Amino acid sequence: MAKKKYCLVGTGVRGVKMFLLPLVKDYADVAELTGICDLNPGRLALAKRLLGRDVPAFTDFGEMLANVSCDTVIVTTKDATHHEYIIKALEAGKDVITEKPMTIDDEKCRAILAAEERAGRRVRGTFNYRYAPFKTKIKELLRQGIVGEIFSVEFRWFLDTVHGADYYRRWHAQKANSGGLLVHKATHHFDLVNWWTGQEPELVFALGARRFYGPTRDQRSERCLDCRFTSACQFHLDLRADEELRSFYLENEAHDGYHRDGCVFSPRIDIEDTMSVLVRYKNGMLLSYNLSSYAPFEGWSVAFNGPLGRLEATEEETFLPTTQPRFAARTAPENRYPADWYLAAFGEKERKTRFTIRFYPVYGGVETFTVPASEGGHGGGDRRLLEMLFREDVLDPLGHAATSRDGAMSILIGIAANKSIATGQPVRIAELLGRRD
Ligand SMILES: NC(=O)c1ccc[n+]([C@@H]2O[C@H](COP(=O)([O-])OP(=O)(O)OC[C@H]3O[C@@H](n4cnc5c(N)ncnc54)[C@H](O)[C@@H]3O)[C@@H](O)[C@H]2O)c1
Repeated sequence: MAKKKYCLVGTGVRGVKMFLLPLVKDYADVAELTGICDLNPGRLALAKRLLGRDVPAFTDFGEMLANVSCDTVIVTTKDATHHEYIIKALEAGKDVITEKPMTIDDEKCRAILAAEERAGRRVRGTFNYRYAPFKTKIKELLRQGIVGEIFSVEFRWFLDTVHGADYYRRWHAQKANSGGLLVHKATHHFDLVNWWTGQEPELVFALGARRFYGPTRDQRSERCLDCRFTSACQFHLDLRADEELRSFYLENEAHDGYHRDGCVFSPRIDIEDTMSVLVRYKNGMLLSYNLSSYAPFEGWSVAFNGPLGRLEATEEETFLPTTQPRFAARTAPENRYPADWYLAAFGEKERKTRFTIRFYPVYGGVETFTVPASEGGHGGGDRRLLEMLFREDVLDPLGHAATSRDGAMSILIGIAANKSIATGQPVRIAELLGRRD
């Protein structure tokens, strides 16, 4: 069988580590990398060094499409530019794999869906969270009808002061680049709810505020590198101390002025950090969702309520059992416990080996299901997603593979939430798709 040819635009950490390196190392039997593109020539050169080969590299996307042969374009640039490359690739007759979020507003979303239809090509999304075995088990149980028809979903997501803070340091911190966390981050979470329940959203109401990051503290430098609050700041990030941040970003700043260590208290931050969203689905199901980006721990918890009972699942990802005011100490692996929050509080250090899902039948009792913890990025989701994307013969009985429709439905909840925060009014998803129903 002929190998599929891929080119990629956006050679940042995600583009290189999630796609380029696996493409040439793990999928060389079925895939060929034919070109890479980025506005930053320094990061292109670094990508070539890491790949260990002289793959054709371009700073102009049109030039890449004109000069290399490819079947599928992988888009891993910053969010606000995804639509540009998706549409150009489709118009050139290519299929597309795009990183989440598919795009950041409803106009761009409609343009992508229309271009896909016109071109008769395929846009696939990269919802790696779906593939983690723990999340897959939830889908299985709900599909078996464990709670009956799902009447409501309660979903809370916690980003801690390491991971959460990272979104306020760079381009994500402006809505014009990322759509804010309700699009950039919550696209994963809304997609999970849509996929777990098999439902599509209809009406959205949201509230949001910026209370922790942004100009909430005394004036600091625009970036950590030249800031005098090095030991006094709980968010001081030293790019020089981290090999990945240094080589990808610090050493390539001269080309584009992209500072990876912007101050998390900068007045330029215009995204929310505290968010609550209510969604009604087409079948009447209700979702209440909360996202915090300065939580004391990292993880999530979900519950599904129906006539037969309540299904609950919680994933505790990391926890700091003792106070760590210095950012560098909070990122140190020995301080971050990938264990039960609760066990870690008692000093237990074992790695978490399994997750528990609990079903509470409506008239009493409890049934537990355990899922072994899985190795690899995003709970083992990244690896499984790559198998689905790059190999043709992977069975998909639970519908893990995501289409452009899935990409649209997940971002449209966040886009509607942004509009609702701005206007104080509920927003209908159909209107964002340009329909009246
Ligand atoms: N699925 C996941 O779990 C996951 C995880 C991380 C990132 N992502 C997504 O991957 C994408 C990249 O994230 P990242 O953290 O690597 O970002 P990044 O800023 O580190 O890298 C983006 C790269 O795109 C380049 N770029 C920016 N604008 C461009 C343009 N107009 N044309 C060409 N190149 C351009 C930049 O120079 C940079 O090299 C984002 O969309 C992000 O949402 C997804």
